Amino acid sequence: MAEARPRVWVSQPLFDDIVERLRAHFDVVQAEDITDYPPQAIADALRDSAGALVTLNERIGAGEIAGAPGLRAIANVGVGYNNLDIPALTSAGIVATNTPDVLTETTADFGFALLMATARRITESERWLREGKWQQWSFGNLLGADLHGSTLGILGMGRIGQGIARRARGFDMRVLYHNRSRLPTNIERDTGALYASFDTLLAQSDHLVLVLPYSPQVHHLIDAAALAKMKPGATLVNIARGGIVDELALADALANGRLAAAGLDVYEDEPTVRPELLALRNVVLTPHIASASLATRRAMVALAVDNLIAALGEGPRAGDPPTPVNPEVLISNKTFIAKRQGA
Ligand code: 8YV
Repeated sequence: MAEARPRVWVSQPLFDDIVERLRAHFDVVQAEDITDYPPQAIADALRDSAGALVTLNERIGAGEIAGAPGLRAIANVGVGYNNLDIPALTSAGIVATNTPDVLTETTADFGFALLMATARRITESERWLREGKWQQWSFGNLLGADLHGSTLGILGMGRIGQGIARRARGFDMRVLYHNRSRLPTNIERDTGALYASFDTLLAQSDHLVLVLPYSPQVHHLIDAAALAKMKPGATLVNIARGGIVDELALADALANGRLAAAGLDVYEDEPTVRPELLALRNVVLTPHIASASLATRRAMVALAVDNLIAALGEGPRAGDPPTPVNPEVLISNKTFIAKRQGA
């Protein structure tokens, strides 16, 4: 009797023509509508699955995988994977993958767009105009901050941070960065960015962009104390994860004029945005769309599908998914993969 095909769970509606590729190898169970899953629903969906294709909305840890002994791989559609408890997955022998590289330039474009909208008060100006407030042109109306000639601080100098630094060169900005480790000289030269301590970055940046990965160690890294060290009248842009910023402290700094403005694409409790932020005129708010160009979102899903197929021992890269987060698990999965290939 033929062995049953492994089952994979696709947690959200994605691009059907790309997800379709999974059906050549697996029985696919896919959500028909965008779904907000309680933990038990995730556990139920994983129970009889060999793999899952998930987004940042699905938080998966020890509790969710406890009843899923056959689970071998989770492909996250996103470069950030703080929705996954990687140590828990690793000790259960589950490969996790993410989608780096394919979103770098699109996300860097958006970071720059959000910076410009924030510094030059673009969305605020549009709201003001649409509200019928433009009765007369006036010289001192809606004055913003320049990008050219200013200092841009980048916190987190991975691929996306480097992309933002390269764009800043075209705007004649001085670029400082802070990162867990200093970058090799050739990358510093290519990006034109200078390494700075965290405190120097805060003190000298006219515009500060957050692009670092989230981990509990950086929770509220930008708190009231850090905001107080920032240059008076600076702007802050966050395209990383909401939890990096203490939003109430930020709302205070924006309300009392300590910071000129903020641009936020990510929030501590998505999709909820704090009323304290919604009430402010000097904050640009976007709904976590930094990677949301059609081409890039398609490329992210395609990479996640490739990862899942390979991690479950199928396709041309069987056993060798392109972008694993915990590659050490692949070695222990060899037996599973060999068995599938022999099946
Ligand atoms: C994604 C992101 O849209 O890649 C990331 O880390 O935050 C976004 O680009 C999101 O992760 C979708 O799951």
